[in-house]
Amino acid sequence: MKLTRRAMIGSTLALGACKQPARSQTIAPVAALAPLRTAPFPVGVCLQAGQLADPALASLLVSQFSQVTPEWEMKMEAVLKPDGTFGFTAADAIAAYAATNGLRLHGHTLIWYSQDGGEAFARVANGGESFRNAYRNYILGVAGRYRGRAAAWDVVNEPVAEDGEGFRDCIWRRNLGMDYVAHAFRHAQEADPGAVLFLNDYNLETNPKKRRTFLMLAEQVLKAGAPLGGLGTQTHLSVDVAPGAIKEAVRDLASLGLPIHISELDVSTTSTRLMQPDTLRINTQQAALVGEAVEAFMSLPPQQRYAITVWGVRDIDSWLRRAETRTAATERPLLFDDGGAPKPAASAFLKAAGR
Ligand code: G3I
Repeated sequence: MKLTRRAMIGSTLALGACKQPARSQTIAPVAALAPLRTAPFPVGVCLQAGQLADPALASLLVSQFSQVTPEWEMKMEAVLKPDGTFGFTAADAIAAYAATNGLRLHGHTLIWYSQDGGEAFARVANGGESFRNAYRNYILGVAGRYRGRAAAWDVVNEPVAEDGEGFRDCIWRRNLGMDYVAHAFRHAQEADPGAVLFLNDYNLETNPKKRRTFLMLAEQVLKAGAPLGGLGTQTHLSVDVAPGAIKEAVRDLASLGLPIHISELDVSTTSTRLMQPDTLRINTQQAALVGEAVEAFMSLPPQQRYAITVWGVRDIDSWLRRAETRTAATERPLLFDDGGAPKPAASAFLKAAGR
């Protein structure tokens, strides 16, 4: 049965009305859990260079995870200076930490609509040869620096329009047309032939139209002969997401046969539909969604299981806690609580992974 957004909302509201726990998922006690990294696939987490100074975070990270994604310090906002030079101090620190601790490095992200390169690209934004050269040189400079060290890259991030109707307007598209996507993959392969090259986007679980447009773009890039090597679905969820939506999305995304990265998993706990804060119910719903994501991933053929990455080590490390919203302080979106203790979602993750 195709779950429409209306049906999803209706089903959640109905559940709210009957005040029953949304899912009668039994949750194993979270004590004495195996590390997440014992899962039969790479388990990643995002990381900021400054967090390495926190010994509690660093020890939890190396004990639980086997892959890292720089949360922001390999992005254009951190790397590209107004004069067009590059700054890699923080990115290098993360790459060095990954190498020292045997963590696979996932590069994030080379080209993103929401970061336009500031003055450095504004100077060449005339659609001509100078822009094309600057675009290629940026990708060669960044992906080339981590050649042989980054296992993969999110080459293009969030190209699809918010509502799924077509593609985002951005400096890259205005100067290169939609070919900016295929060109980015070609330049990334030139920079690092050994890296797996991903197309990454969000809300693919909750917006089937956006998912269809994303898959259409992926097929176009493949048909153009560009080296698209994997699909990333960020999987930023809310506890209100209806059961089954994740499994349907992963099944759809896997239809091209490419490796799948659940690339930024978190589950916002500021429910817009729960009548009042209900920690047990929120933890239960969060655990059920995390379990569904892992079950969906485990249902893939092994060659399509790239990794599952969570977007933060502890709740307190989440970008959602830094948001300038009324509910940010109440966010508990990750698998470990503020003190680093595993939550029911961690238990559900491992149970679904067969550990
Ligand atoms: O750490 C500095 C701080 O020293 C400084 O005072 C402050 C003000 O300039 O900036 C701080 O850095 C910020 C950083 O987050 C750490 O909080 C950057 O400005 C800010 O741009 C950065 O935001 C990141 C955002 O992407 C934009 O890069 C978030 O952490 C990160 O979680 C978010 O991640 C994105 C994915 O890349 C793509 N998918 C959506 C996801 C969430 O938005």
